[in-house]
Amino acid sequence: MLTLKFAVLPGDGIGPEVMAAALDVLKTTTSAAGIDLDYQQADVGGIAIDNQGSALPDSTVEVCEAGDAILFGSVGGPKWESLPPAEQPERAALLPIRKHFSLFANLRPGLLFKELTDASPLKTERIPDGIDIVCVRELTGGIYFGPKNTRELEDGDIEASDTMVYKKSEIERILDVAIASAKSRSGKICSVDKANVLTTSVLWRKTATEYLAAKAPDIELSHMYVDNAAMQMARDPNQFDVVVTENMFGDILSDEMGIVCGSLGMLSSASLGTQNNQHGHPFGLYEPSGGTAPDIAGQGIANPCAQILSGALMLRYSFGLNELAEKIENAVRKAVKDDCRTGDIAFGKPSMTTSEMAQAIMDRL
Ligand code: IPM
Ligand code: MN
Repeated sequence: MLTLKFAVLPGDGIGPEVMAAALDVLKTTTSAAGIDLDYQQADVGGIAIDNQGSALPDSTVEVCEAGDAILFGSVGGPKWESLPPAEQPERAALLPIRKHFSLFANLRPGLLFKELTDASPLKTERIPDGIDIVCVRELTGGIYFGPKNTRELEDGDIEASDTMVYKKSEIERILDVAIASAKSRSGKICSVDKANVLTTSVLWRKTATEYLAAKAPDIELSHMYVDNAAMQMARDPNQFDVVVTENMFGDILSDEMGIVCGSLGMLSSASLGTQNNQHGHPFGLYEPSGGTAPDIAGQGIANPCAQILSGALMLRYSFGLNELAEKIENAVRKAVKDDCRTGDIAFGKPSMTTSEMAQAIMDRL
């Protein structure tokens, strides 16, 4: 019998509630296919600071290392906001976990169902069929991880610096992920950079042009400056299919894509590593794109869809179970079509609790 071994890190805020819902959906989906789940839970984020004095304790890293993937909830909240920035749960948990597991490729599907176009701030006539794009963000390089420094100058002034650094090989490996994604979709990639100003972007653009020409000449490659891309994302998101970009640009653009796609409660993400697991698929971390939603935490009303869809991405990318992933994705789509809604996506329809929504999805698997 096939067994899926993974770490479960629910984190803070609504994390534990939506995680419970996602695990129920995963259990139902896999047991029907004769597959066993073997997962181990561990603390991460604020709860880990409270219980163990660190946002990412060694014991949690060990639990992650013992599995073939990580299903992640969300971290942070008002309780830890007064900590110095480098100790806050988001940064102190997410950045080290990305680096430790070399999670270099962040895929954020920008998916808005036709039934939910009201959730987008864009006028419905601009997105009559919803939105379906994907952002492929480089996640372990660039200005996030380059040399940083703060120093006092001779004249008493203070100078701080962050450095954006990229190697050609780092650009090529993220392009590989974008190519694979484009091949399973419409075959179009838009590479986003700032090549009119930044040296790293000049290398990025040259590498994208040469690498695509050599490795995937059938893919239609375009380039766009990041400022223009931000504008185009708000004007006509569906002009994109696969967007590939560096770490910082991807951070900003993927949030913009998130809001354009309506509720963050619907958006999943996958962060894939360089290492393959024992199934021969990339080790990865799967998490909702939204945050801990402290305002509704503990009430059992959070939208579990993003966490459930993140579970589907885990089945697809880290376990190669594409059909089961699609089953979950279709069940979520069907539930939303049938007017099953949590408060964030209700728009006048009656709203369900987190567990009722999960049940509605399981009923449609
Ligand atoms: C994200 C977050 C993180 C990032 C923060 C919390 C460090 O904004 O996952 O997009 O900037 O990458
Ligand atoms: Mn972000």
